[in-house]
This record gives sequence, structure tokens and C-alpha cells, in this order.
Amino acid sequence: AIGALQGMHSGRLRVALVTTAKYFLPRMLGAFCRRYPEIDVQLEITNRAGVVARMRGNEDDLYIMSLPPADMDIVVRPFLDNPLVVIAPLDHPAAGRRCTAAELAGASFLLREPGSGSRAAVDRHLQQLGLTPTVRLTVASNEAIRDLVASGLGLAILSRHSLAADPAEQGLAILDVEHFPIRQPWSIVHLKGKVLSLPAQAFIRELLEAAGESRAPGLPDTKKPSARQEG
Ligand code: PGA
Repeated sequence: AIGALQGMHSGRLRVALVTTAKYFLPRMLGAFCRRYPEIDVQLEITNRAGVVARMRGNEDDLYIMSLPPADMDIVVRPFLDNPLVVIAPLDHPAAGRRCTAAELAGASFLLREPGSGSRAAVDRHLQQLGLTPTVRLTVASNEAIRDLVASGLGLAILSRHSLAADPAEQGLAILDVEHFPIRQPWSIVHLKGKVLSLPAQAFIRELLEAAGESRAPGLPDTKKPSARQEG
């Protein structure tokens, strides 16, 4: 039992997360690090392709992402909505009214890079809607895309979590477009064959708790997706 307790309060925890999750994580990480000061937490923040590569190499204890790979033996637990919204400059003519998806057809888009899970979800969704976006710029940064949209370079579809509680402060409007936002949860993922360390178990509990409390600022509806326990 002493060993278990020591295991709980010290040790190393490695977590790899996609870029969209880094806006949510600080809200729970502070509490976790105060509660378990002896746990050495190592975070890696990269895009989906980077997270999947780390997963294939068994480099981390836990992974946080929206689109877990279908071809791996993993345990997947959805825990918080990560809606992808259409953003435009604040003074865009479509701001503040309901738009059809077809109205997006003529717009120029700033998109995330290939390998991004956000990009994959956007590509798939637009394809399902029969839309081929005009891509003006491809940028591997949510923040850069956000600021470039505010400066009038085009529209984008980004995680709601990457925007301020009041996007107008950032010069942005979230457009009310039919079939949007794209709805998908983040999941906590680990390799099925991996025995979860006590720090990893504690981190999962903290994440679930923080997600339960999270009425993320300004998010339209952060219903917690029903936790699916596997493994
Ligand atoms: P990413 O994040 O666009 O940084 O790859 C995708 C995700 O939310 O899983």
C-alpha cells in the first residue's frame, strides 16, 4: 500500500495533446500540479499526425485528441466537446444572421496544415456538404489563422476553444451557418496494452472532473459526451 501511495504522489507522467486541447488544459493542470507536486508532468503539444506518431512509438502515458486512429488497439474515452466553428472578421456581411452552407462556396478559406485533425474534420465535413473550399492560405497555427481572419484575409473553421470567450474582442464573429459547428469530442486515449500508472489514473480523473465543471466560456453548449469506457 505504501508503494501504491508513493506511486500516486511521485513519478513521471507524459501526455501528448493536439493543439486544440492546449486552451482547455491549463484550466485543470494548475489544480493537478498543486495536488500532486511530486509528479513530473511532461506535455507534448503537436498536431494529430504528431500525436498518432507518438502513440505508435508508445512514447506517452496518455493522448488527448479528437480523431483517434481507427487502426490501433487503443482505449478511447470521449470527455469534452470540441466544436469547430466558422469564423469571419467582425464586420463581415454574414455576421449576425443565419447563412446557408452554400453561401460559403465563394469564400476564401485559411485552413490548418495536412496532418491536423481539425483540417481532416473540416475537409470531411465540407466534402459531405458538397463544397470545395477555395484555400487562400494553409497555416500550422490556430492563433495565426485566427489573427489573419480578423485582419480580413478570409474565413476559417477553427476549434471554439481557440477563441476568446467573446470573439468580438479579437475582431472576430462566429458565423451562424447551417450544418455548423462541426461537432466532435476530445477523447483521452491510451494504448490498450499499457497498464496505466497511478499518476495517469489521477490525471484522467482530474480531466473528467474539470470537463464536468467546464461551462467553457462562451461555448454554446458544452454537454459532456457520455463517457464510453472500454478495455
Ligand atoms: P489538431 O487538433 O488540428 O491540432 O491536429 C485536432 C483535434 O482536435 O484532435
